[in-house]
Amino acid sequence: MYLPGFFQDPYVEDTFEVVWPFASSGQLCRQVRRSKDMAMGLVSGRVAIVTGAAQGIGASYAKALAREGAKLCVSDIADCDDTVQQIRAGGAEAIGMRCDVTKSEDVSELVSATERTFGQIDILVNNAAMFGSLTLKPFEQIEASEWDLVMSVNVRGSFECIKGVLPVMKRRRYGKIVNIASGTIFKGTPMMAHYVASKGAIVALTRALARELGDTGILCNCLAPGLTMSESVRSKVNWSEFVSTNIASRSLKREMLPDDLVGALLFLVGPQSDFMTGQTIVIDGGSVFH
Ligand SMILES: NC(=O)c1ccc[n+]([C@@H]2O[C@H](COP(=O)([O-])OP(=O)(O)OC[C@H]3O[C@@H](n4cnc5c(N)ncnc54)[C@H](O)[C@@H]3O)[C@@H](O)[C@H]2O)c1
Repeated sequence: MYLPGFFQDPYVEDTFEVVWPFASSGQLCRQVRRSKDMAMGLVSGRVAIVTGAAQGIGASYAKALAREGAKLCVSDIADCDDTVQQIRAGGAEAIGMRCDVTKSEDVSELVSATERTFGQIDILVNNAAMFGSLTLKPFEQIEASEWDLVMSVNVRGSFECIKGVLPVMKRRRYGKIVNIASGTIFKGTPMMAHYVASKGAIVALTRALARELGDTGILCNCLAPGLTMSESVRSKVNWSEFVSTNIASRSLKREMLPDDLVGALLFLVGPQSDFMTGQTIVIDGGSVFH
């Protein structure tokens, strides 16, 4: 029995199959999300590339986009099979691509494989970065080689991916690019100066691109997360003080999880943000006010 509008997903009209009778406690009924709803999500019919999505926050973004009806190209320098299998198990389409975002030939193959498989590219989430693998250290101890690596992955990687998808997006006069920055740029977080500088560059790049692309139908915005308990952050045994200081700085004093970022990401790729470009949304439980 279908009761349109009774149990309604905010993004989907006529959402759930409601199976009667109500559970014996009287307050619940079983909701079965039909596979047809996958085609009615916030980004249904869209094709998305998420970089750095083998695990961590990138995997959460990819799975959320798939739940909202997008077809996914999940990419990472690491093996993406887990994320791809989870997306397919949920009934959505996905391919996985090994891609080092600093290599233009890898990015070129990423773009062609996505277009070959799905026929278009509508969404790019530039999430790949050197973050979880970094060791906190004073500025003077950062070697030039480490500085260059962080800049190369975090800044040039986004540059390469944007350059790769632009011709495809321009052809259809549609595109949503979301660059992942970081709340650290507003705080000037110490002991990771290269990382903070790289994420500042991402915000600046986003603004410059928003103006340049204004007439093309392509929008470019930033999402700036606060410290989030991704797998890599959880695995940092000596980060407990860093984590507790962060929590104490928030208006909402709890750990932040990858899923806390999903609502803002979906807003930035979906139709509700169609008159918004060049902006940076901070999601951090109210630590910095920007
Ligand atoms: N976790 C946090 O607290 C936090 C806070 C603010 C911003 N961010 C940003 O969010 C994003 C994800 O964070 P996370 O915690 O999941 O990070 P993470 O370090 O766990 O994951 C980054 C992913 O990028 C991939 N990657 C690294 N180098 C690559 C390359 N050259 N080419 C392709 N992929 C590459 C890694 O394999 C990894 O899967 C990053 O951009 C990070 O800077 C994270």
